[in-house]
Amino acid sequence: MMRKFLKWTGIVAAGIVALALLAILWIFIASGRELGAKHTVARGAMLTIPTDAASIVEGERLARISGCLHCHGDALGGQMVHDFPNIARFVAPNISGSLQDHDDAQLEALIRHGVKFDGTGMLFMPAEMYRHKRDEDVAKIIAYLRTVPRADGVGEQTLIRPIGRFLLAQGIFKTGPRAIETLPAPVKTFDAADPVSHGKHLVMNLCSECHAQTLEGIPMANSPPLSVAKAYSSEQFERLMRDGTGMGDRTFALMTPTSKARFSWLTAAEVDAIYAFLQARSQAAGATAIASRSRRTRVSR
Ligand code: HEC
Ligand code: HEC
Repeated sequence: MMRKFLKWTGIVAAGIVALALLAILWIFIASGRELGAKHTVARGAMLTIPTDAASIVEGERLARISGCLHCHGDALGGQMVHDFPNIARFVAPNISGSLQDHDDAQLEALIRHGVKFDGTGMLFMPAEMYRHKRDEDVAKIIAYLRTVPRADGVGEQTLIRPIGRFLLAQGIFKTGPRAIETLPAPVKTFDAADPVSHGKHLVMNLCSECHAQTLEGIPMANSPPLSVAKAYSSEQFERLMRDGTGMGDRTFALMTPTSKARFSWLTAAEVDAIYAFLQARSQAAGATAIASRSRRTRVSR
């Protein structure tokens, strides 16, 4: 009797172990397929890369406000940007002095489509945000990138750990080109005479990495919906953009260093445009809420 019992528990235990091994195998195969998937980018009109000094200086400023130097370092020597235990360790590689080897189309595909030089999808670098960039701005960034001399930097590469692989296999965590497939069309054009329109383009281009494409915030990243900016006066908002100090003299774990590294390079007109858009957006949202509330009262009557 006892023998038989032991025999059956042994078989069940072996079955469970076999299933667990199969699940792990599936996670590695499915995530490996995502990591290795090659993406092609439909070719639009070719970019014209400027060579004049003013465009290169502006390209550096655009790279700064976009966060390229915040993640890849001031000399573009690369650095470890985020380590999520058991999930992944993201390393922005050393990209100094090496971009001369890649043509304009490859660099455009990298920035706006999240496709790496080997054709695989980019992880962690925010192509979902950069897809909103205008042709002329991408061209200036590329012009600047090519002038950066070789610097010493990191040697290690991005590492995806088991839970990260599981999230990739499940499609919860997506590479840049996969995430872009699911999104509405980018906001590449704006009316330069209208601060609200200019501001929308800037916010999609500079803030959506952390505050989401919907601008509603990302709870996992602890970032609030951008409607919180409604309470800010224009002076308080300018201070938040310039040195990362919020209302009530607060400093923030991520927003403060991000403002210092990126948004301190915004022009005064850009800060005003961002503020104008965020105010207009919360007013519009307020008006919709009031309208739907009065509609509801009418219906219930
Ligand atoms: C949030 C951090 C972050 C920002 C911002 C960022 N990068 Fe990256 N970048 C990374 C990471 C991480 C990788 C490695 C990704 C991987 O291995 O999938 C990377 C990889 C690269 C590569 C190497 C691609 C390859 O095929 O080897 C280049 C070039 C690059 N980034 C340029 C840029 C430029 C230009 C910008 C600004 C427009 C930028 N990065 C902004 C984090 C960032
Ligand atoms: C790299 C990520 C990142 C980017 C890019 C970013 N933010 Fe934030 N932001 C955060 C996080 C996270 C918080 C919450 C505070 C914290 O933990 O740092 C925050 C907080 C805020 C707040 C709330 C401050 C308060 O009073 O509580 C405002 C307003 C804000 N961000 C505006 C912006 C605007 C405007 C942009 C674009 C110009 C932007 N952020 C870009 C990550 C980011």
